Order: sequence, then structure tokens, then C-alpha cells
Amino acid sequence: MKMNPWTLSVLLLLAGPLGADPGWHVEYPASFCVVEGSTATIPCSFTHPLVDVKKGGVIVQVKRVAWCPDPLLCHQSTTNVYDSGNVRADSRFLYLGDLVGNCTLKIIKTVKQDAKRYYFRFETNAGGYTGREGVTVTVTNGEDVKVRSSVTDNVVKEGGQVTLTCTSACSFHQLDVHWYRNGHALSETGPALHFSSLTNDETGNYTCSLDSSGQKTSAPWSLLVGEYEGFHRSVHLKVAVVKGVVLAVLFLLMAGVVFAIWSSNKTNQI
Ligand SMILES: *[C@@H]1O[C@H](CO)[C@@H](O)[C@H](O)[C@H]1NC(C)=O
Ligand SMILES: *[C@@H]1O[C@H](CO)[C@@H](O)[C@H](O)[C@H]1NC(C)=O
Repeated sequence: MKMNPWTLSVLLLLAGPLGADPGWHVEYPASFCVVEGSTATIPCSFTHPLVDVKKGGVIVQVKRVAWCPDPLLCHQSTTNVYDSGNVRADSRFLYLGDLVGNCTLKIIKTVKQDAKRYYFRFETNAGGYTGREGVTVTVTNGEDVKVRSSVTDNVVKEGGQVTLTCTSACSFHQLDVHWYRNGHALSETGPALHFSSLTNDETGNYTCSLDSSGQKTSAPWSLLVGEYEGFHRSVHLKVAVVKGVVLAVLFLLMAGVVFAIWSSNKTNQI
């Protein structure tokens, strides 16, 4: 589409207050970590000049977008994990972006072989551009999945608060986390499980998993909700009593040994 000089100057005037005409650019994280079997949503955005001045003010329009593991072959559709010109229905690589400025990529059920560097390329009526740096995707086996608690003690009194967080070597932004209490799936998904007013029903062993199949599950975290105000203290009291008894026994044993030595010394003196 050709524009008359008047339309062009209006467009450039409009672009003026919003900042300079954007350049060719792709913005994505340098690296992205994902646990094998889980879903990765890689954020991505891109910009291009609004008009092609060289072609007499043609409005730049995106015609094709692609994600590829090889920046040199990005313009071919054969090796691309996603290509708007050749969308594969069974692909685990889904394009959540658009043709305007969002190039977010979703990888479903990641496998070890997905660990590669990926590049985003877009082609317009005024030329194409491939993001220079690429995103390095790391796939971990998820053996280090852990439940962490906001409180160090397993015992929390009724009405109290606790936040359980699912952690691993990967950061967990935008990951699907599944939670279980005593092995039963909870409805909550997300990296953190927050309890604001604990009841005894919440007592149990909590595990988290990074894929719906329940593999890559963390070790359990036992949460014990006290039934009354003094419960917490009484548990501690029991521990203190046990410690006291052990200490008393040790003391008596040592006293016995000292006495035995003392008395044997006495015998020797005679
Ligand atoms: C890009 O699209 C994704 C998926 O629809 C969305 O979650 C994200 O917020 C969008 N990003 C921007 C900057 O609009
Ligand atoms: C939670 O785990 C502990 C030890 O691992 C076990 O003794 C206890 O019975 C478990 N509780 C439930 C409700 O499964």
C-alpha cells in the first residue's frame, strides 16, 4: 500500500510523541530453564519500523513469523519448530504471539532434545529480521524439586499462616505446578500454595509436581496444624521433657562412673 506524503507525515507526527520510529528488534530472555515434561512459556516481543521510507512510505506489515534452532536456516520452513507459513498440527511448539509485536512461544511437554538455542524471525513486506542473540532453553530432569515452607517448623497453630513453595533448579515463573495433599491432587496450580487461616483439615503431607503425570514429584513436607493455642507449646514441651529425661539419665550414668572411679581410688589407697 502506497501512502500520500500527507498521510506519511501524520503517521510520523503520531510516532513522534510516542518515541522515535521503532527499529528492527527482538526481545527475549537470554536463557530459559524448564523441567522435562512440563510446559515452558517463553516471553518474546518484537518491533519494526512502522513505515518503509525507502519505498515511499509503505506501511510495514508482518507476513510470516518463525521460531528456529538455526538462525541461518530460519527463512526455510523445514527445520523451524514453528512457522506461520507451515503450521504443523501435532507440534508441541505453539505460537501464542501475533503479527504485531508479541512472539511468545509455548513448548508443551518438554523433552531433553528441546534443549537448544532458539531464534525468532519475522518477515515483512519491507524485509525480514532474525533476533540476534536467541534464547538458550535448558531442560532439567527435575530431580531437585522441593517443597519449601515459609516457616521452618512443621507445626503451625490453627488460624496461622503458611506458604508452601515448589522450587527446583529452574525458576518457576509461568510453570504449571501441581500440588498434592497425602497424594490427592489439590485444585490449586502455581508455584506457591498459601494458607491464610489454617484448620486441622490442612494437616497432611504436601508434595508438588511439575507435570500432570505426577512424575518429578518432590519429597513430602509434613504440615501439622495445632488444634488449640497451646498445642504448639505442648509439642515443644514433649520434646523438652524427652531431652530432659535423656540428660538426666546421662547425668546419672556419669555420676555413677565418677563414683566408681572415686571408690576404686579409695580402695587402692587402703
Ligand atoms: C503476549 O502473549 C501472551 C500469550 O497470549 C501473553 O500472556 C502476554 O502477556 C503477551 N505479552 C504482551 C507484552 O502483551
Ligand atoms: C505423613 O508422613 C509421615 C512420615 O513420612 C507419616 O508418618 C504420616 O503417617 C504421613 N501422614 C499421612 C496423613 O499420610
